[in-house]
Amino acid sequence: MNISSEIRNLISNRRKGYTLEAPFYLSPEINTLDIEVIFGRHWIFVAVEPEIAEPGDYIKVDVGHNSVIIVRDDDMNVKAFHNVCRHRGSQLCDDAKGSVGNLVCPYHQWTYDLSGKLIYNEHMGVDFDKNDHNLKPVHVGNIAGLVFICLADEPPADFDNMRKAMEPYIAPHRLADCKVAIQEDIIENGNWKLTMENNRECYHCIANHPELLNSMYEFGFGYQPSPENAEKVQEFRDLVVSEGNRWAACGLLSAEIDLLDGCATAYRTQRLPLEKAGESQTMDSKVACQKLLGDLTLRNLGGLSFWTQPNSWHHFMSDHIVTFSVLPIDAEHTLLRTTWLVHKDAVEGMDYETKKITEVWKATNKQDSTLVERTHRGVKSDQYEPGPYSPYTEELVEKFTNWYIQRLEAEIDNIKSSVTPIKICR
Ligand code: FES
Ligand SMILES: [Fe+2]
Repeated sequence: MNISSEIRNLISNRRKGYTLEAPFYLSPEINTLDIEVIFGRHWIFVAVEPEIAEPGDYIKVDVGHNSVIIVRDDDMNVKAFHNVCRHRGSQLCDDAKGSVGNLVCPYHQWTYDLSGKLIYNEHMGVDFDKNDHNLKPVHVGNIAGLVFICLADEPPADFDNMRKAMEPYIAPHRLADCKVAIQEDIIENGNWKLTMENNRECYHCIANHPELLNSMYEFGFGYQPSPENAEKVQEFRDLVVSEGNRWAACGLLSAEIDLLDGCATAYRTQRLPLEKAGESQTMDSKVACQKLLGDLTLRNLGGLSFWTQPNSWHHFMSDHIVTFSVLPIDAEHTLLRTTWLVHKDAVEGMDYETKKITEVWKATNKQDSTLVERTHRGVKSDQYEPGPYSPYTEELVEKFTNWYIQRLEAEIDNIKSSVTPIKICR
């Protein structure tokens, strides 16, 4: 795509410590840039392994104008392919999820096996070489059952650092041995970066999230001691240390890692204490599923949180897991997909009630969606101008926008080289 000098100026003149200029949230041209650079050249979180538990299970994920099929192959590997037939380009899968023996194009029935190999087609002549027409693969990264994809030819190599660091944190929750209890898609009426910025702070929690704050301390989400709350923050930090020692005795990692900017594959993690019973992100902070995950025996393990740039966050408790994936639909609409997981042998109605598992985050998502929509409407005003981040509560928001601008700056020269005189209408 061609990048206008106006956009280049917006990127290079970004004012640190402030929200972005309005075009970053509203411009279709910048959204195209986001799809190409941010979502096209970085690792993005799209699924959990239990969504494709058996060979032939697939899900379809649309990333801007690109569509990707993520499938479990016959050897139980997770594979991803562009959802584009190598004959005349028809999409192979229309449904968001399903189960197949092979991937058969509905147009002329070209058939691909689950490794993407073209195995059947008619009327192409004796000189036709099937090997030249396999499905185009998409890179897959798997962190203890969290499935990431990267659409770039050469994905950022530092994904491996994140994987190595995070696997020991996540592994005890045994995500691959879970089942999806329920999944919910919300279309938010706002730009995807407003969804992410909103996620990266808890400044808004007291005024907006009564259900979430039944179990969660807001101080674990980027708070620094300020004149208003220094004592409470210190109390929380003391609790983090004492609970961390208790969890360490059970072999669980809890120390904070914050690499939310400065690298292509950026993330943060920490196991955080929860309030009251300290067991789970539920209305009474007690477990919502009696069958604990993996080999865990203690209920009060707090919540292991894992945040990634550009598009995900996750909470791992002793009894259930919640994952969130954010994908832009266009400049003004965002898909937020939330997935709740429990032990695969847990029985609904006996070990857990779906309502108790989901009620906190369903309410919180709805509240957040309203905040995103309201902010998006405000940013549209002629009178919007970038506002200052709180140094005491919005450090992680700033890291998100810093990372975003850093990545555009890092990739912008590659964009210049792909300038094409042909305009494609999508
Ligand atoms: S476009 Fe797929 S078989 Fe023809
Ligand atoms: Fe929120």
